[in-house]
Amino acid sequence: MLRPECAAIPSPFLSWFPVLQRFLPLLACVLLSVSAFAAPSGADEADERAKALVSEMTQAEKLGQLWLALPPMPDEAIRDGSVGSMMNFAGPADVAHVQRTAMQSRLGIPLIVAIDVVHGYRTMFPLPIAEASTFDPKLAETASYWAAREASADGFNMTFGPMADVTRDVRWGRIVEGSGEDTFMASAFTKARIQGFHAGGLATTAKHFVGYGASIGGRDYDETPIPPAQLHDIYLPPFKAAVDAGTESIMAAFNALDGMPSNSNPDLLTGILRHQWGFKGFVMSDYAAIAETLNHGIAATPGEAARLALTAGNDVEMASALFKDDLPAEIAAGRLDPAVVDEAVRRVVATKIRMGLFDKPADPQPDPAIIPQARKVARAITAESLILLQNRDETLPISKKVRRIAVVGPFADSARDQNGPHEAHGRTDETITLLQGIRERAKKADIAVSYAAGCEPPGCADDKGFDAAEEAARHSDLVVAVLGESRDLVGEGASRAHLDFPGKQAELLERLAATGKPVVLVLMAGHPLTLGKVLPKTSAVLMTWYPGSEGGPAVADVLFGDVNPSGHLPYTWPRSVGQVPLFYNALPSGRPHEPGARFTLGYADEDLSPQFPFGFGLSYTQFAFSNLKVEPEFGVGDTVKVSVSVANTGKRAGKESVQLYVRDRVASRSQPVRELKAIDKVELKPGERRTVTLQVAARDLGFHRPDGTYVVEPGDFDVWVGDDSTAPLHGEFRLRDGLSESPKS
Ligand code: BGC
Repeated sequence: MLRPECAAIPSPFLSWFPVLQRFLPLLACVLLSVSAFAAPSGADEADERAKALVSEMTQAEKLGQLWLALPPMPDEAIRDGSVGSMMNFAGPADVAHVQRTAMQSRLGIPLIVAIDVVHGYRTMFPLPIAEASTFDPKLAETASYWAAREASADGFNMTFGPMADVTRDVRWGRIVEGSGEDTFMASAFTKARIQGFHAGGLATTAKHFVGYGASIGGRDYDETPIPPAQLHDIYLPPFKAAVDAGTESIMAAFNALDGMPSNSNPDLLTGILRHQWGFKGFVMSDYAAIAETLNHGIAATPGEAARLALTAGNDVEMASALFKDDLPAEIAAGRLDPAVVDEAVRRVVATKIRMGLFDKPADPQPDPAIIPQARKVARAITAESLILLQNRDETLPISKKVRRIAVVGPFADSARDQNGPHEAHGRTDETITLLQGIRERAKKADIAVSYAAGCEPPGCADDKGFDAAEEAARHSDLVVAVLGESRDLVGEGASRAHLDFPGKQAELLERLAATGKPVVLVLMAGHPLTLGKVLPKTSAVLMTWYPGSEGGPAVADVLFGDVNPSGHLPYTWPRSVGQVPLFYNALPSGRPHEPGARFTLGYADEDLSPQFPFGFGLSYTQFAFSNLKVEPEFGVGDTVKVSVSVANTGKRAGKESVQLYVRDRVASRSQPVRELKAIDKVELKPGERRTVTLQVAARDLGFHRPDGTYVVEPGDFDVWVGDDSTAPLHGEFRLRDGLSESPKS
C-alpha cells in the first residue's frame, strides 16, 4: 500500500504540465511503498502457515485453490471452497460479494480476484507499447501505480500483467501490450510496471512465459521455434526481471515452444523458473490452455492434460476445470502423487499470505477522488508517448498563421477506438476524443475547426463522405487527418497479414493531399503501417497509438506546441510487410548489406533499411550529441561509464532520449550489430548543453550458449550514443577479463 507520507504529495503533483518534473517525490514514495506491498512477512513464515492450512484441507478444497474461475459462480461453490481465485468482475459490489462468501468457507481462505489491467482500469492510460515510447520506465511505473489504485479500490487484488513478451514481428496483434522488440526495454519496463502495480495495491502476473511474442508469421497462437541461445538472450530476461521485482505470479504461454506447450514444460516452469531463478510464487495457465493441451496433441485425455501441466509446475488453471474435474481420478489411479497437488496448493496459499489477503478486510473501498488524479497523470504521460515521425517545413506545432483547421478521418471522434483494446472498466463516455481536444484547444487560440469524418470506423468501407471531407479541407489552412487501424485490428487474436491502411483511407488521404493544403497525418494504430506512398503527401506525421481517456487534450498539447514531442519508436518501422521481421539488433551476417551489391544481405525489390529505425523520434527542437568519453579498459566486475555532451541547438525547450548501444566485436558466437544497454532522458532549454553519463555493468555485456551457460568474453567493444539505433557517435573500450556461469540445476 502507498505509504501515508505519499498522500501529502498530490496537490502540487497534480498541477498541470511541469507535472512530470514533480513526479520525482511521488516516485520516491511509490518505490518506498513497493516493499510494503511485496515483502512477505518472512518467506518461511508464509510457507509454514500455508503448509499448516494445506494439511487441514480436503482434496476438493485443495483442488479448489488451484482453480481460477470465471464468474458467475454459485455462492455454494465459493462457500464450500471449490474455487480459489476469480477474475474479470463487473464492479466492486460483485467483488465484495464473492470475497465475503469465500470468508464464510470452512477455512476462511480469501480469493485472489484478478483482472487484466493492461493500460488502465477506469482511466485509459497509453498502451504499454506507447508507454515504452516514452523511453522512460518511471512513467510506466507511475501509470501502473494509478491504474492499480483505481482497480484495487474496487477490490481487485491482482492484475494479469505486465506482459513481458518481446516481439520482433510487428504483424503480431499483441505487440501493443508489450514494450516492443528490445530485451533491455522489455526488462526495464516490466520491472517498472511491477513496482507501480505493487505500490498501487495490485499483485502482478508476468505473462506470457515464454516466447509467445515469437509466434511464427506473427500469427497469434502459432508455434514458436526459438533456438535455445536466443531464448536465453532475447526472451527470458524480461521474465527474470519480473521475478527479481517480486511478481507474485507467472502466466504460462499458450504457445508450443519447440513443440512443447509452455504450461506442460517442466524445463521452463520448474527448471528455469523455480530452480534457476528461485521463483516463490505460483504459475497459472493462460485461460483454457490446459484444456487446449489436447489440441496441441501432447495429451490424449483431459486427465493426462491436467496431470502433465500440474507436474510440470503449472499450479493454477484458469477458465477450464480439468484440475478440479479430472485430477481426482488421476490420483485415485496412482498416476499422480498427491504431494504434487499439496505443493501447488502451498504455493498458492503462501502467495495469498504474502499478498496480505488474510490480514485485509475483504470490502472494496471505491474512492472517487482517485480518478481525477489518474486523469491528470494520464494526460501528461500520453503527451510524452506521442512520436513525431515527420515534420516538413516545421508544419508542427500549428503556427499562429493557421486560422482554420479541418479535422478529418474515421478515428478523429471515435472514443471506442481511442480507448484501445483491453479497456478493463474504461468508459467511452469519459474519453475525450481527438476532435474534442483539438476543438477545445483551438477555441483558446481563436482558430475555427471544421470536422468531416470522410468515412466511418471501424473499416472506412465507402467513400460517401469523401466530398464533404474534401470540402472541409479546401476551406482550411491545415488538415489534421486522423487515420489508422480500428482497435479491432490490434490485441489478442488480431494479427495482420497486411500493414497498409484498411478500407478506403489511402484514397481519402489522396483526396485531402490533392487540395494542396498541408496535411498532418495523426496515426491511431498499434502496428506500424506502411507509409512509403503516404509520406510524400503529408507534411507531418504523429504516431499516437491508442491514446486513451485523455488522448484529445494530450494530442492537442503536442499539435499546438504546449508540449514538445519526445516519444521514440520501441520497434523498427518497416517499409513493407515483406521485410518483417525486421529488428535493429540483428546478427551481422557473413555478407553484410552493401547497396547495389547483389550477393549481399538484402532484397532484390526492396531496400533493406527500415522506414524509421528503432529508437527514432523527432522533436520541435534539435539536439546534438558530441564528445563521447569512455575509459579504454574495464574488468568484468566494473561499471562501464560512458559520457556524452547533449546540446539543445534549436529554439524550444525539449526532452531528448539518450540511448547507448554496444557491440561485442569478436566473440565465440556471432553477436548483434548493436544492442541497447542503457537509456536516459534529459530536458534541455534552448542553447543548453549537458553532460550525460550512462552506465552499464560490464557483467551485462555477455550472452548465452545454447546450454544456458552465460558468458562474458574479454575483448574489444564498440559503443554508440545518440537518439536512435543508427546513432553515429562512436567510442570503444576493452574488457580485460570475462566470466562463465553455468545454469543452476
Ligand atoms: C490472454 C491473457 C489474459 C487472459 C485473461 C487470455 O486470452 O492471453 O493475456 O490475461 O486471457 O483475460
